[in-house]
Amino acid sequence: MAERIFIGVAWPYANGPLHLGHVAGCYLPADIFARFHRLKGNQVLMVSGSDSHGTPITVRAEQEGIEPQDVVDRYHAIFLDSWRRLGISFDLFTSTGTGNHREVVQKIFRSLLDQGYIYTDTTLLAYCPDCNRFLADRYIEGVCPHCGDQRARGDQCESCGRTLDPQDLLQARCVISGTTPEFRESEHFFLKLSAFQEPLLEWVRKQTHWRPNVLNFTRRFLEDGLKDRAISRDLSWGVDLPVEGYDEKRIYVWFEAVIGYLSAAIEWAKDSGRPDAWEEFWKDESTKSYYFIGKDNIPFHTIIWPAMLMAYGGLNLPYDVPANEFLSLENRKFSTSQDWAVWVPDYLDRYDPDPLRYLLSINMPESGDADFSWSEFVRRNNDELVATYGNLVNRVLSFTYKNFDGRLPVPGALTEVDHAMIDTARSAVDSVGQNIANCRFKAAIGHAFSLAQAANRYLDTKAPWKSIKTDREEAATTLFTAIRVINCLKLILSPFMPFSAQKLHGFLGFDGPIEEETWDFDALIDAIKPGGPLRSPGPLYIKLDTAVADEESQRLRAEAV
Ligand code: MF3
Ligand code: ZN
Repeated sequence: MAERIFIGVAWPYANGPLHLGHVAGCYLPADIFARFHRLKGNQVLMVSGSDSHGTPITVRAEQEGIEPQDVVDRYHAIFLDSWRRLGISFDLFTSTGTGNHREVVQKIFRSLLDQGYIYTDTTLLAYCPDCNRFLADRYIEGVCPHCGDQRARGDQCESCGRTLDPQDLLQARCVISGTTPEFRESEHFFLKLSAFQEPLLEWVRKQTHWRPNVLNFTRRFLEDGLKDRAISRDLSWGVDLPVEGYDEKRIYVWFEAVIGYLSAAIEWAKDSGRPDAWEEFWKDESTKSYYFIGKDNIPFHTIIWPAMLMAYGGLNLPYDVPANEFLSLENRKFSTSQDWAVWVPDYLDRYDPDPLRYLLSINMPESGDADFSWSEFVRRNNDELVATYGNLVNRVLSFTYKNFDGRLPVPGALTEVDHAMIDTARSAVDSVGQNIANCRFKAAIGHAFSLAQAANRYLDTKAPWKSIKTDREEAATTLFTAIRVINCLKLILSPFMPFSAQKLHGFLGFDGPIEEETWDFDALIDAIKPGGPLRSPGPLYIKLDTAVADEESQRLRAEAV
Protein backbone atom coordinates (compact mmCIF):
# COMPACT_ATOMS: atom_id res chain seq x y z
CA MET A 1 0.00 0.00 0.00
CA ALA A 2 1.28 3.45 -0.89
CA GLU A 3 2.54 5.49 2.02
CA ARG A 4 2.50 9.23 2.48
CA ILE A 5 5.79 10.81 3.51
CA PHE A 6 6.41 14.41 4.53
CA ILE A 7 10.04 15.48 4.36
CA GLY A 8 11.15 18.72 6.00
CA VAL A 9 14.73 19.80 5.48
CA ALA A 10 16.53 22.43 7.57
CA TRP A 11 16.00 25.97 6.30
CA PRO A 12 19.38 27.48 5.50
CA TYR A 13 20.03 31.07 6.54
CA ALA A 14 20.16 33.06 3.32
CA ASN A 15 23.34 34.86 4.32
CA GLY A 16 25.93 32.96 2.29
CA PRO A 17 26.32 30.05 -0.12
CA LEU A 18 26.18 26.47 1.12
CA HIS A 19 29.22 24.31 1.59
CA LEU A 20 29.71 20.56 1.39
CA GLY A 21 29.07 20.20 5.13
CA HIS A 22 25.49 21.39 4.61
CA VAL A 23 25.00 18.99 1.69
CA ALA A 24 26.20 15.99 3.70
CA GLY A 25 24.37 17.16 6.82
CA CYS A 26 20.86 17.25 5.48
CA TYR A 27 20.19 18.08 1.80
CA LEU A 28 21.68 14.95 0.26
CA PRO A 29 20.20 12.43 2.73
CA ALA A 30 16.78 14.09 2.38
CA ASP A 31 17.02 13.92 -1.39
CA ILE A 32 18.05 10.25 -1.43
CA PHE A 33 15.15 9.47 0.86
CA ALA A 34 12.65 11.45 -1.25
CA ARG A 35 13.79 9.93 -4.54
CA PHE A 36 13.59 6.43 -3.08
CA HIS A 37 10.05 6.89 -1.79
CA ARG A 38 8.86 8.39 -5.07
CA LEU A 39 10.26 5.35 -6.92
CA LYS A 40 8.41 3.13 -4.45
CA GLY A 41 5.22 4.84 -5.58
CA ASN A 42 4.77 6.63 -2.27
CA GLN A 43 3.36 10.12 -2.05
CA VAL A 44 6.17 12.47 -1.07
CA LEU A 45 6.21 16.13 -0.15
CA MET A 46 9.70 17.52 0.41
CA VAL A 47 9.95 21.16 1.41
CA SER A 48 12.33 23.73 2.79
CA GLY A 49 13.24 27.32 2.08
CA SER A 50 15.50 30.23 2.82
CA ASP A 51 15.55 31.24 6.47
CA SER A 52 15.25 34.96 5.73
CA HIS A 53 15.22 36.47 9.19
CA GLY A 54 17.44 36.52 12.24
CA THR A 55 20.75 38.12 13.02
CA PRO A 56 22.78 36.08 10.51
CA ILE A 57 20.98 38.05 7.80
CA THR A 58 21.10 41.48 9.44
CA VAL A 59 24.77 41.13 10.40
CA ARG A 60 25.59 40.35 6.79
CA ALA A 61 23.52 43.27 5.49
CA GLU A 62 25.24 45.63 7.93
CA GLN A 63 28.67 44.40 6.89
CA GLU A 64 27.91 45.05 3.24
CA GLY A 65 25.91 48.22 3.75
CA ILE A 66 22.86 46.80 1.97
CA GLU A 67 19.31 45.90 2.97
CA PRO A 68 18.54 42.52 4.57
CA GLN A 69 16.15 41.82 1.68
CA ASP A 70 19.01 42.19 -0.81
CA VAL A 71 21.05 39.63 1.09
CA VAL A 72 18.14 37.20 1.11
CA ASP A 73 17.36 37.67 -2.58
CA ARG A 74 20.96 37.10 -3.60
CA TYR A 75 21.44 33.86 -1.68
CA HIS A 76 17.97 32.52 -2.30
CA ALA A 77 18.71 32.63 -6.03
CA ILE A 78 22.04 30.88 -5.43
CA PHE A 79 20.33 28.16 -3.35
CA LEU A 80 17.80 27.48 -6.10
CA ASP A 81 20.56 27.22 -8.66
CA SER A 82 22.57 24.87 -6.41
CA TRP A 83 19.59 22.55 -5.89
CA ARG A 84 19.05 22.32 -9.63
CA ARG A 85 22.68 21.60 -10.44
CA LEU A 86 23.13 19.21 -7.53
CA GLY A 87 19.83 17.44 -8.20
CA ILE A 88 18.22 18.15 -4.83
CA SER A 89 14.60 17.53 -5.78
CA PHE A 90 12.48 19.74 -3.52
CA ASP A 91 8.77 19.82 -4.22
CA LEU A 92 8.99 23.38 -2.94
CA PHE A 93 11.90 25.49 -1.79
CA THR A 94 10.37 28.75 -0.63
CA SER A 95 11.39 31.32 1.96
CA THR A 96 10.22 32.65 5.31
CA GLY A 97 9.75 36.05 3.67
CA THR A 98 6.43 35.20 1.97
CA GLY A 99 3.02 36.60 2.89
CA ASN A 100 1.76 33.05 3.24
CA HIS A 101 4.41 32.25 5.84
CA ARG A 102 3.58 35.40 7.81
CA GLU A 103 -0.12 34.50 7.85
CA VAL A 104 0.48 30.94 9.04
CA VAL A 105 2.96 32.06 11.71
CA GLN A 106 0.60 34.72 13.00
CA LYS A 107 -2.28 32.28 13.08
CA ILE A 108 -0.30 29.83 15.19
CA PHE A 109 1.01 32.60 17.43
CA ARG A 110 -2.56 33.86 18.05
CA SER A 111 -3.84 30.40 18.78
CA LEU A 112 -1.09 29.73 21.33
CA LEU A 113 -1.64 33.17 22.87
CA ASP A 114 -5.39 32.58 23.15
CA GLN A 115 -4.79 29.18 24.74
CA GLY A 116 -2.35 30.62 27.28
CA TYR A 117 0.70 28.83 25.85
CA ILE A 118 2.15 32.23 24.98
CA TYR A 119 2.12 34.97 27.62
CA THR A 120 3.78 38.34 28.17
CA ASP A 121 6.24 39.07 30.92
CA THR A 122 9.06 41.44 31.52
CA THR A 123 12.52 40.09 31.08
CA LEU A 124 16.03 41.38 31.39
CA LEU A 125 17.56 41.90 28.00
CA ALA A 126 21.14 42.55 27.15
CA TYR A 127 21.76 46.17 26.19
CA CYS A 128 25.15 47.39 25.03
CA PRO A 129 25.91 50.85 26.47
CA ASP A 130 28.60 51.38 23.83
CA CYS A 131 26.49 50.43 20.83
CA ASN A 132 23.35 51.99 22.39
CA ARG A 133 21.07 49.11 21.52
CA PHE A 134 19.53 45.88 22.69
CA LEU A 135 21.70 43.00 21.62
CA ALA A 136 20.19 40.18 19.65
CA ASP A 137 21.26 36.69 20.72
CA ARG A 138 24.06 36.31 18.28
CA TYR A 139 25.55 39.66 19.20
CA ILE A 140 26.39 38.30 22.63
CA GLU A 141 28.99 35.73 23.51
CA GLY A 142 30.16 34.36 26.80
CA VAL A 143 30.95 31.25 28.77
CA CYS A 144 28.45 28.38 28.59
CA PRO A 145 27.00 27.71 32.06
CA HIS A 146 26.66 24.01 31.21
CA CYS A 147 29.95 23.02 29.63
CA GLY A 148 32.19 26.03 30.19
CA ASP A 149 32.84 26.61 26.49
CA GLN A 150 34.26 30.12 26.07
CA ARG A 151 32.39 31.06 22.91
CA ALA A 152 28.78 30.21 23.59
CA ARG A 153 26.27 32.54 21.90
CA GLY A 154 23.18 34.14 23.35
CA ASP A 155 20.93 31.53 21.75
CA GLN A 156 22.94 28.32 21.84
CA CYS A 157 26.23 26.78 22.87
CA GLU A 158 27.68 25.09 19.78
CA SER A 159 29.97 23.03 21.93
CA CYS A 160 27.36 21.17 23.99
CA GLY A 161 24.34 22.00 21.82
CA ARG A 162 22.16 23.35 24.63
CA THR A 163 19.85 26.26 23.86
CA LEU A 164 20.52 29.34 25.99
CA ASP A 165 19.07 32.67 26.90
CA PRO A 166 21.48 35.62 26.93
CA GLN A 167 21.16 35.93 30.74
CA ASP A 168 22.49 32.39 31.12
CA LEU A 169 25.91 33.33 29.75
CA LEU A 170 28.74 33.91 32.18
CA GLN A 171 31.11 36.79 31.42
CA ALA A 172 28.86 38.00 28.62
CA ARG A 173 30.22 40.50 26.12
CA CYS A 174 28.95 42.37 23.06
CA VAL A 175 30.54 40.84 19.97
CA ILE A 176 30.82 44.25 18.29
CA SER A 177 32.37 46.35 21.05
CA GLY A 178 33.51 43.72 23.53
CA THR A 179 31.71 45.63 26.28
CA THR A 180 29.94 43.85 29.13
CA PRO A 181 26.25 44.34 28.42
CA GLU A 182 23.78 45.76 30.93
CA PHE A 183 20.52 43.96 31.44
CA ARG A 184 17.52 46.24 31.00
CA GLU A 185 13.94 45.42 31.58
CA SER A 186 11.76 44.90 28.51
CA GLU A 187 8.36 43.34 27.89
CA HIS A 188 8.31 40.18 25.80
CA PHE A 189 6.26 37.19 24.75
CA PHE A 190 7.13 33.80 26.19
CA LEU A 191 6.44 30.30 25.00
CA LYS A 192 5.31 28.11 27.88
CA LEU A 193 7.66 25.25 27.16
CA SER A 194 7.52 24.13 30.80
CA ALA A 195 3.95 22.97 30.21
CA PHE A 196 5.25 20.36 27.76
CA GLN A 197 7.92 18.74 29.87
CA GLU A 198 5.78 15.70 30.72
CA PRO A 199 3.98 15.28 27.39
CA LEU A 200 7.32 15.52 25.58
CA LEU A 201 9.00 13.01 27.87
CA GLU A 202 6.17 10.60 27.31
CA TRP A 203 6.30 11.12 23.55
CA VAL A 204 10.07 10.81 23.32
CA ARG A 205 9.98 7.55 25.29
CA LYS A 206 8.07 6.01 22.37
CA GLN A 207 10.58 7.08 19.71
CA THR A 208 12.73 3.99 19.97
CA HIS A 209 13.38 4.07 16.22
CA TRP A 210 15.29 7.39 16.47
CA ARG A 211 19.04 7.41 16.04
CA PRO A 212 20.77 6.96 19.40
CA ASN A 213 22.50 10.35 19.23
CA VAL A 214 19.20 12.13 18.60
CA LEU A 215 17.39 10.21 21.30
CA ASN A 216 20.11 10.64 23.92
CA PHE A 217 20.53 14.32 23.23
CA THR A 218 16.79 14.90 23.48
CA ARG A 219 16.44 12.90 26.69
CA ARG A 220 19.31 14.76 28.33
CA PHE A 221 17.81 18.07 27.24
CA LEU A 222 14.45 17.17 28.76
CA GLU A 223 16.02 15.89 31.95
CA ASP A 224 17.71 19.29 32.41
CA GLY A 225 14.16 20.67 32.65
CA LEU A 226 12.38 22.91 30.14
CA LYS A 227 12.24 26.64 30.77
CA ASP A 228 9.80 29.04 29.14
CA ARG A 229 11.57 30.97 26.39
CA ALA A 230 11.20 34.49 25.07
CA ILE A 231 9.90 34.33 21.50
CA SER A 232 9.90 38.03 20.64
CA ARG A 233 12.86 40.32 20.03
CA ASP A 234 13.51 44.08 19.77
CA LEU A 235 14.15 44.16 16.05
CA SER A 236 12.69 45.57 12.89
CA TRP A 237 13.58 42.62 10.59
CA GLY A 238 11.29 39.61 10.96
CA VAL A 239 7.65 38.57 11.21
CA ASP A 240 5.40 41.14 12.97
CA LEU A 241 3.60 40.22 16.14
CA PRO A 242 -0.13 39.82 15.51
CA VAL A 243 -0.90 41.91 18.59
CA GLU A 244 -1.50 45.68 18.83
CA GLY A 245 1.13 47.87 20.41
CA TYR A 246 4.29 45.92 19.66
CA ASP A 247 5.45 47.61 16.48
CA GLU A 248 9.03 47.71 17.70
CA LYS A 249 9.22 43.96 18.17
CA ARG A 250 9.35 40.91 15.90
CA ILE A 251 8.75 37.20 16.41
CA TYR A 252 11.93 35.32 17.29
CA VAL A 253 13.42 33.72 14.20
CA TRP A 254 13.46 30.15 15.54
CA PHE A 255 9.81 30.28 16.55
CA GLU A 256 8.72 31.26 13.06
CA ALA A 257 11.31 29.36 10.97
CA VAL A 258 10.15 25.93 12.16
CA ILE A 259 6.59 26.91 11.23
CA GLY A 260 7.99 27.10 7.69
CA TYR A 261 7.51 23.33 7.40
CA LEU A 262 3.78 23.84 7.70
CA SER A 263 3.51 27.09 5.73
CA ALA A 264 5.55 25.60 2.89
CA ALA A 265 3.16 22.64 2.68
CA ILE A 266 0.26 25.09 2.50
CA GLU A 267 2.00 27.12 -0.21
CA TRP A 268 2.73 23.94 -2.17
CA ALA A 269 -0.93 22.94 -1.98
CA LYS A 270 -2.08 26.35 -3.22
CA ASP A 271 0.40 26.23 -6.10
CA SER A 272 -0.67 22.74 -7.09
CA GLY A 273 -4.27 23.89 -7.48
CA ARG A 274 -5.53 21.73 -4.63
CA PRO A 275 -5.43 24.15 -1.70
CA ASP A 276 -6.46 21.49 0.82
CA ALA A 277 -3.84 18.95 -0.28
CA TRP A 278 -1.48 19.91 2.56
CA GLU A 279 -3.92 18.45 5.08
CA GLU A 280 -3.17 14.88 3.95
CA PHE A 281 0.42 15.46 4.92
CA TRP A 282 -0.30 17.19 8.22
CA LYS A 283 -3.58 15.82 9.55
CA ASP A 284 -3.76 12.26 8.30
CA GLU A 285 -2.12 10.26 11.07
CA SER A 286 -0.83 7.60 8.71
CA THR A 287 1.52 10.18 7.13
CA LYS A 288 5.07 9.90 8.43
CA SER A 289 7.01 13.16 8.85
CA TYR A 290 10.79 13.12 8.60
CA TYR A 291 13.01 16.07 9.42
CA PHE A 292 16.50 16.07 7.94
CA ILE A 293 18.79 18.41 9.86
CA GLY A 294 22.33 18.80 11.17
CA LYS A 295 22.97 17.91 14.79
CA ASP A 296 23.13 21.56 15.95
CA ASN A 297 19.43 21.84 15.14
CA ILE A 298 18.24 18.84 17.16
CA PRO A 299 16.51 20.63 20.10
CA PHE A 300 14.48 22.82 17.78
CA HIS A 301 13.09 19.78 15.98
CA THR A 302 12.70 17.24 18.78
CA ILE A 303 11.54 19.60 21.53
CA ILE A 304 10.51 23.12 20.57
CA TRP A 305 8.68 22.36 17.31
CA PRO A 306 6.92 19.29 18.78
CA ALA A 307 5.88 21.41 21.80
CA MET A 308 4.48 24.07 19.46
CA LEU A 309 2.60 21.39 17.51
CA MET A 310 1.21 19.86 20.70
CA ALA A 311 0.08 23.30 21.81
CA TYR A 312 -1.61 24.08 18.50
CA GLY A 313 -3.15 20.62 18.20
CA GLY A 314 -4.42 18.50 15.32
CA LEU A 315 -1.17 18.33 13.34
CA ASN A 316 1.30 15.46 13.02
CA LEU A 317 4.36 15.39 15.23
CA PRO A 318 7.70 14.35 13.72
CA TYR A 319 7.98 10.63 13.07
CA ASP A 320 11.75 10.72 12.78
CA VAL A 321 14.51 13.32 12.98
CA PRO A 322 17.52 11.59 11.43
CA ALA A 323 20.04 14.32 12.30
CA ASN A 324 23.50 13.85 10.89
CA GLU A 325 26.75 14.54 12.70
CA PHE A 326 29.30 16.97 11.29
CA LEU A 327 31.50 16.74 8.23
CA SER A 328 34.97 18.21 8.52
CA LEU A 329 37.14 19.36 5.66
CA GLU A 330 40.66 17.93 5.48
CA ASN A 331 40.42 17.29 9.22
CA ARG A 332 39.47 20.84 10.15
CA LYS A 333 36.04 22.18 11.05
CA PHE A 334 34.25 23.97 8.17
CA SER A 335 34.42 27.69 8.90
CA THR A 336 32.72 30.42 6.92
CA SER A 337 34.59 33.22 8.67
CA GLN A 338 37.96 31.58 8.01
CA ASP A 339 36.90 30.60 4.49
CA TRP A 340 37.72 26.98 5.23
CA ALA A 341 35.06 25.51 3.01
CA VAL A 342 34.30 24.03 -0.38
CA TRP A 343 31.36 26.08 -1.63
CA VAL A 344 28.69 24.20 -3.57
CA PRO A 345 28.60 26.61 -6.55
CA ASP A 346 32.41 26.46 -6.85
CA TYR A 347 32.44 22.67 -6.73
CA LEU A 348 29.75 22.51 -9.42
CA ASP A 349 31.66 24.89 -11.67
CA ARG A 350 34.51 22.39 -11.77
CA TYR A 351 33.10 18.87 -11.32
CA ASP A 352 30.04 16.74 -11.92
CA PRO A 353 27.44 16.42 -9.19
CA ASP A 354 27.35 12.61 -9.00
CA PRO A 355 30.92 11.96 -7.80
CA LEU A 356 30.26 14.33 -4.90
CA ARG A 357 26.92 12.72 -4.14
CA TYR A 358 28.65 9.35 -4.22
CA LEU A 359 31.44 10.32 -1.85
CA LEU A 360 29.16 12.09 0.59
CA SER A 361 26.84 9.07 0.61
CA ILE A 362 29.48 6.40 1.15
CA ASN A 363 31.15 8.64 3.73
CA MET A 364 28.05 10.19 5.27
CA PRO A 365 28.43 11.59 8.82
CA GLU A 366 25.54 9.41 9.91
CA SER A 367 26.52 7.73 13.15
CA GLY A 368 29.71 9.70 13.73
CA ASP A 369 31.57 12.68 12.30
CA ALA A 370 33.18 12.21 8.89
CA ASP A 371 35.83 14.00 6.88
CA PHE A 372 35.93 15.23 3.29
CA SER A 373 39.33 15.39 1.65
CA TRP A 374 40.19 16.03 -1.97
CA SER A 375 42.50 13.04 -2.07
CA GLU A 376 39.69 10.75 -0.98
CA PHE A 377 37.41 12.40 -3.53
CA VAL A 378 39.84 11.62 -6.36
CA ARG A 379 40.60 8.14 -5.06
CA ARG A 380 36.99 7.07 -4.68
CA ASN A 381 36.07 8.62 -8.02
CA ASN A 382 38.80 6.71 -9.80
CA ASP A 383 38.90 3.43 -7.88
CA GLU A 384 35.23 2.99 -7.11
CA LEU A 385 33.00 4.99 -9.44
CA VAL A 386 35.11 4.64 -12.56
CA ALA A 387 36.86 1.31 -11.92
CA THR A 388 34.14 -0.71 -10.22
CA TYR A 389 30.81 0.58 -11.43
CA GLY A 390 31.54 2.70 -14.52
CA ASN A 391 33.81 0.07 -15.95
CA LEU A 392 31.28 -2.71 -15.37
CA VAL A 393 28.63 -0.78 -17.26
CA ASN A 394 31.00 0.29 -19.96
CA ARG A 395 32.51 -3.07 -20.76
CA VAL A 396 29.17 -4.87 -20.83
CA LEU A 397 27.29 -2.29 -22.86
CA SER A 398 30.05 -1.52 -25.37
CA PHE A 399 30.77 -5.19 -25.99
CA THR A 400 27.11 -6.04 -26.41
CA TYR A 401 26.41 -3.04 -28.62
CA LYS A 402 29.27 -3.97 -30.93
CA ASN A 403 28.65 -7.69 -31.11
CA PHE A 404 24.88 -7.83 -31.19
CA ASP A 405 24.02 -5.07 -33.71
CA GLY A 406 23.12 -2.49 -31.09
CA ARG A 407 20.46 -4.72 -29.53
CA LEU A 408 20.01 -6.73 -26.39
CA PRO A 409 21.11 -10.32 -27.00
CA VAL A 410 18.66 -13.19 -26.96
CA PRO A 411 19.73 -15.50 -24.13
CA GLY A 412 19.67 -19.28 -24.00
CA ALA A 413 18.65 -21.24 -20.89
CA LEU A 414 20.07 -19.83 -17.66
CA THR A 415 22.58 -21.92 -15.75
CA GLU A 416 22.97 -22.06 -11.99
CA VAL A 417 25.61 -19.34 -12.07
CA ASP A 418 23.29 -17.02 -14.00
CA HIS A 419 20.43 -17.70 -11.59
CA ALA A 420 22.72 -17.04 -8.65
CA MET A 421 23.66 -13.67 -10.14
CA ILE A 422 20.01 -12.72 -10.51
CA ASP A 423 19.32 -13.82 -6.92
CA THR A 424 22.15 -11.65 -5.67
CA ALA A 425 20.60 -8.72 -7.51
CA ARG A 426 17.22 -9.46 -5.94
CA SER A 427 18.59 -9.40 -2.42
CA ALA A 428 20.61 -6.24 -3.12
CA VAL A 429 17.52 -4.40 -4.36
CA ASP A 430 15.85 -5.49 -1.14
CA SER A 431 18.58 -4.53 1.27
CA VAL A 432 19.34 -1.20 -0.39
CA GLY A 433 15.64 -0.33 -0.13
CA GLN A 434 15.39 -1.38 3.48
CA ASN A 435 18.46 0.57 4.46
CA ILE A 436 17.26 3.74 2.74
CA ALA A 437 13.85 3.39 4.36
CA ASN A 438 15.64 3.20 7.72
CA CYS A 439 17.77 6.26 6.89
CA ARG A 440 20.95 4.18 6.72
CA PHE A 441 22.29 5.71 3.55
CA LYS A 442 25.89 4.71 3.97
CA ALA A 443 24.99 1.04 4.35
CA ALA A 444 22.54 1.31 1.47
CA ILE A 445 25.04 2.54 -1.08
CA GLY A 446 27.54 0.01 0.26
CA HIS A 447 25.13 -2.82 -0.59
CA ALA A 448 24.61 -1.40 -4.07
CA PHE A 449 28.34 -1.36 -4.67
CA SER A 450 28.67 -4.93 -3.43
CA LEU A 451 26.26 -5.87 -6.19
CA ALA A 452 28.48 -4.10 -8.74
CA GLN A 453 31.45 -6.07 -7.42
CA ALA A 454 29.51 -9.31 -7.61
CA ALA A 455 28.60 -8.52 -11.22
CA ASN A 456 32.26 -7.90 -12.05
CA ARG A 457 33.19 -11.28 -10.57
CA TYR A 458 30.38 -12.95 -12.50
CA LEU A 459 31.71 -11.50 -15.75
CA ASP A 460 35.27 -12.47 -14.97
CA THR A 461 34.15 -16.04 -14.34
CA LYS A 462 31.97 -16.29 -17.43
CA ALA A 463 34.26 -14.25 -19.73
CA PRO A 464 31.77 -13.63 -22.56
CA TRP A 465 34.54 -12.02 -24.64
CA LYS A 466 36.03 -15.53 -24.87
CA SER A 467 32.86 -17.59 -25.17
CA ILE A 468 31.56 -15.41 -28.00
CA LYS A 469 34.13 -17.06 -30.25
CA THR A 470 32.99 -20.59 -29.44
CA ASP A 471 29.46 -20.40 -28.08
CA ARG A 472 27.59 -17.29 -29.09
CA GLU A 473 24.45 -18.25 -27.19
CA GLU A 474 26.40 -18.71 -23.96
CA ALA A 475 27.93 -15.23 -24.37
CA ALA A 476 24.46 -13.84 -25.10
CA THR A 477 23.11 -15.38 -21.89
CA THR A 478 25.89 -13.89 -19.80
CA LEU A 479 25.60 -10.41 -21.30
CA PHE A 480 21.84 -10.44 -21.11
CA THR A 481 21.98 -11.46 -17.45
CA ALA A 482 24.61 -8.82 -16.70
CA ILE A 483 22.47 -6.14 -18.34
CA ARG A 484 19.50 -7.16 -16.22
CA VAL A 485 21.70 -6.69 -13.17
CA ILE A 486 22.92 -3.35 -14.50
CA ASN A 487 19.31 -2.26 -14.90
CA CYS A 488 18.81 -3.01 -11.19
CA LEU A 489 21.99 -1.12 -10.30
CA LYS A 490 20.85 1.84 -12.36
CA LEU A 491 17.67 2.15 -10.38
CA ILE A 492 18.93 1.46 -6.87
CA LEU A 493 21.80 3.90 -7.40
CA SER A 494 19.53 6.58 -8.90
CA PRO A 495 18.55 8.16 -5.55
CA PHE A 496 22.26 8.63 -4.86
CA MET A 497 23.43 9.52 -8.37
CA PRO A 498 20.47 10.67 -10.44
CA PHE A 499 22.39 12.24 -13.33
CA SER A 500 24.48 9.21 -14.31
CA ALA A 501 21.46 6.96 -13.71
CA GLN A 502 19.52 8.98 -16.26
CA LYS A 503 22.35 8.65 -18.75
CA LEU A 504 22.52 4.90 -18.24
CA HIS A 505 18.75 4.69 -18.57
CA GLY A 506 19.18 6.12 -22.08
CA PHE A 507 22.01 3.71 -23.00
CA LEU A 508 19.71 0.87 -21.99
CA GLY A 509 17.27 2.04 -24.63
CA PHE A 510 14.73 3.73 -22.40
CA ASP A 511 13.12 7.11 -22.94
CA GLY A 512 11.69 9.43 -20.33
CA PRO A 513 12.87 10.42 -16.89
CA ILE A 514 14.19 7.74 -14.57
CA GLU A 515 12.08 9.29 -11.81
CA GLU A 516 9.07 7.70 -13.49
CA GLU A 517 10.41 4.15 -13.06
CA THR A 518 9.38 1.83 -10.23
CA TRP A 519 11.45 0.33 -7.44
CA ASP A 520 10.31 -3.22 -8.11
CA PHE A 521 12.70 -6.07 -8.77
CA ASP A 522 10.49 -8.05 -11.14
CA ALA A 523 9.67 -4.95 -13.17
CA LEU A 524 13.37 -4.11 -13.45
CA ILE A 525 14.17 -7.59 -14.70
CA ASP A 526 11.25 -7.75 -17.15
CA ALA A 527 12.08 -4.34 -18.61
CA ILE A 528 15.20 -5.84 -20.20
CA LYS A 529 13.73 -7.81 -23.09
CA PRO A 530 15.53 -10.19 -25.45
CA GLY A 531 16.29 -8.37 -28.69
CA GLY A 532 15.29 -5.00 -27.27
CA PRO A 533 17.02 -1.81 -28.38
CA LEU A 534 20.21 -0.35 -26.92
CA ARG A 535 21.83 3.01 -27.55
CA SER A 536 25.48 3.62 -28.20
CA PRO A 537 27.03 3.84 -24.70
CA GLY A 538 29.55 6.36 -23.41
CA PRO A 539 31.38 6.66 -20.10
CA LEU A 540 29.29 7.39 -17.00
CA TYR A 541 32.15 8.92 -15.02
CA ILE A 542 35.44 10.58 -15.84
CA LYS A 543 38.74 9.54 -14.35
CA LEU A 544 40.39 12.44 -12.53
CA ASP A 545 44.07 13.22 -12.71
CA THR A 546 45.64 12.60 -9.32
CA ALA A 547 47.10 16.13 -9.52
CA VAL A 548 43.54 17.38 -8.92
CA ALA A 549 43.80 16.41 -5.25
CA ASP A 550 46.90 18.55 -4.72
CA GLU A 551 45.58 21.45 -6.75
CA GLU A 552 42.33 21.59 -4.85
CA SER A 553 43.98 21.15 -1.50
CA GLN A 554 46.33 24.02 -2.30
CA ARG A 555 43.51 26.22 -3.49
CA LEU A 556 41.74 25.59 -0.20
CA ARG A 557 44.79 26.59 1.82
CA ALA A 558 45.48 29.63 -0.35
CA GLU A 559 41.96 30.99 0.12
CA ALA A 560 41.72 30.29 3.85
CA VAL A 561 42.42 33.13 6.25
N1 MF3 B 1 18.49 28.52 9.67
C1 MF3 B 1 18.81 27.56 10.70
C2 MF3 B 1 20.25 27.16 10.62
O1 MF3 B 1 20.85 27.30 9.57
C3 MF3 B 1 18.02 26.29 10.57
C4 MF3 B 1 16.63 26.49 10.67
S1 MF3 B 1 15.81 25.01 10.52
C5 MF3 B 1 14.26 25.53 10.79
O2 MF3 B 1 20.78 26.69 11.60
F1 MF3 B 1 13.52 24.57 10.69
F2 MF3 B 1 14.15 26.06 11.95
F3 MF3 B 1 13.95 26.41 9.92
ZN1 ZN C 1 27.88 24.39 26.41
